[in-house]
Amino acid sequence: MFTQAKKILKGAKQGGYAVPAFSTSNLEITQAIIRGAVKKKSPLIVLVSPRSIKYAGAATIVAMVKSITEEEAKNIPVALLLDHGKNLKTVKEAIKAGFSSVMIDGSSLSFKKNAALTKNVVRYAHRYKVDVQGELGGVPYFKKNPEKVDWEKVMTDPDKAQEFVKITGVDTLAVAIGNAHGFSKERENLDWNRLNEIHKKVNLPLVLHGASDFKYKNAPRAIKGGVACFNIDTALKIAFFNSLKKFLKNNPKVYDPREILEFTSCAVQKVVEEKIEAFGSAGKI
Ligand code: 13P
Ligand code: ZN
Repeated sequence: MFTQAKKILKGAKQGGYAVPAFSTSNLEITQAIIRGAVKKKSPLIVLVSPRSIKYAGAATIVAMVKSITEEEAKNIPVALLLDHGKNLKTVKEAIKAGFSSVMIDGSSLSFKKNAALTKNVVRYAHRYKVDVQGELGGVPYFKKNPEKVDWEKVMTDPDKAQEFVKITGVDTLAVAIGNAHGFSKERENLDWNRLNEIHKKVNLPLVLHGASDFKYKNAPRAIKGGVACFNIDTALKIAFFNSLKKFLKNNPKVYDPREILEFTSCAVQKVVEEKIEAFGSAGKI
């Protein structure tokens, strides 16, 4: 059943578990994500970035997620969230296409500009009953110069987070406590004290981006600190890539995409199921 991310994450926060949010850009990965959630009886958030919208088309992605949900996951709460929207125009297009939820990522802007942009997006989105995730602090992308990150500057300031939420009216908040996008090169240790301070000051479900390589043993600690959602992208891409290489190596003569992609989808679904178990949302519907 198609619903808002806000509702799913409110339930998670109250229930003391977290829901993984998975990125998709095509049919097979979407199927793997939704089928994994069905198998594990878990609520689900499907993420689509502006780059993936460009790749697949907004209307196509929305139709795909809605129809797979309708056909295969009638009883599973599924939200479709625009991930890392950078401006109001992208948000408007996503809402028009039928996304249930949006993220506005103003993390590269000054506090003032980020708050103003996010507030604007909230005002617009709420008119359409679309919930909004904001981000304060930065979750770096480690393609280059990881050693140059000044974590103290990048991580979320708890007082500022409180102010940001008050100004903007966001429904959920992405925070930076030393997490980074992509595999490896996170901060040595996540800043748990900071997370607990944010949690005290912000009574909203918190979102941790860059969670593909999040250590499972730390999940209870993060959840206790208010994290209700872990964003996962790279882990699915790697599962797809590795299984594709393996399949082609072992079956050099198979050219039917269905056969090839059935194999890769199984590998992706396995990772989806593993994350759902690790973050505690299995059986929560
Ligand atoms: P990873 O690619 O590190 O899992 O990050 C995913 C993410 O944050 C999507 O918004
Ligand atoms: Zn992210």
